[in-house]
Amino acid sequence: MAEVVIVENAEAAGALVAAEIVELIDGRPDAVLGLATGSTPLPVYKALREKLTGRDVSQVRGFALDEYVGIDPAHPESYRSVITREVVEPLGLDPRRIHVPNGAQDTIQHAGDDYETAIEAAGGVDLQILGIGTDGHIGFNEPGSSFASRTRVKTLTVQTREDNARFFDSIDDVPKHCITQGLGTILRARHLVLLAFGEGKAQAVADAVEGPLSAILPGSAIQLHPHATVVVDEAAASRLRLSDYYRYTYANKPSWQGI
Ligand code: F6R
Repeated sequence: MAEVVIVENAEAAGALVAAEIVELIDGRPDAVLGLATGSTPLPVYKALREKLTGRDVSQVRGFALDEYVGIDPAHPESYRSVITREVVEPLGLDPRRIHVPNGAQDTIQHAGDDYETAIEAAGGVDLQILGIGTDGHIGFNEPGSSFASRTRVKTLTVQTREDNARFFDSIDDVPKHCITQGLGTILRARHLVLLAFGEGKAQAVADAVEGPLSAILPGSAIQLHPHATVVVDEAAASRLRLSDYYRYTYANKPSWQGI
C-alpha cells in the first residue's frame, strides 16, 4: 500500500516533498520530474524555489501531466503557461527540457503517442507529483479510466469543469477535453507522490488509499505502485481508517528511508 504521511499543513507538505526532490536532483542532476498543475503542488514549487537556490538545475527535465485540448498555449490558464509561470521560471529550469502534452487540435490524433515516446526517450519519470480531484481523478484520468491507459484525449466531467471554473472567467470557458498521461503512464514513474489538502479531498484520498481498486476511482491505481507516498494534511486525512497506524509508522520510520 501507499505510505501515508500526515502533516500539519500544506507548507509542511511542500517542504517535505521539496526536500525529497532536492535529494533526487543532487544524486541525479538530469532527474526527470513529473509535474502536476492545479493548486495542490504549489507549496512544493514554492519550497523548491528556496531549496534549489544556488544549485545547478540546468539538466533537470520535466513532463507535465496534462493539458486542455484546443486552448491557446499563451492563454494564462493553459497548463503550458501555468508550468512556465509556477515551475520553469521561478526554479530557473531550462524550458527546452520541460514538456507539456500538445493540446493543439490539428495534431491531437498523434499527440498522445508523441508524448509517450518523449517520456520513454527520457528514460521515464523519476518522481511524479500528483494531486487528486474531488471525483478521484489523477492527471485528468476521470472515473472509468483504464488502469492501463496511456497519454490520450479524455472528456472532462462536469464536476472537474466546475472545480476548475475558478481559474477561468466562467465555466463556459473551461475546455471540455484534455490530453492527459494515462494511469498506465503514471504507474511507470519510479516514485509517485500524491498530495491533498482540505476536507474536500478527504473522501477521494480515503477511497484512493484504502478503497477497492476500481476504475470508478482512478486514484486507487496508486495501490498498484511499489513506491507511492501520500502526503496529506489533517483535514484530507480525516476519513482514513488507518490514520493512527500511518502516524505510528511514520513516527517510527528510520530516517535513512526518506519518503
Ligand atoms: C493537474 C491534475 C489534476 C489535479 C486535480 C486537483 O495537472 O493533473 O489531477 O491535480 O484536479 O486539482 P487541485 O490541485 O487544483 O485541487
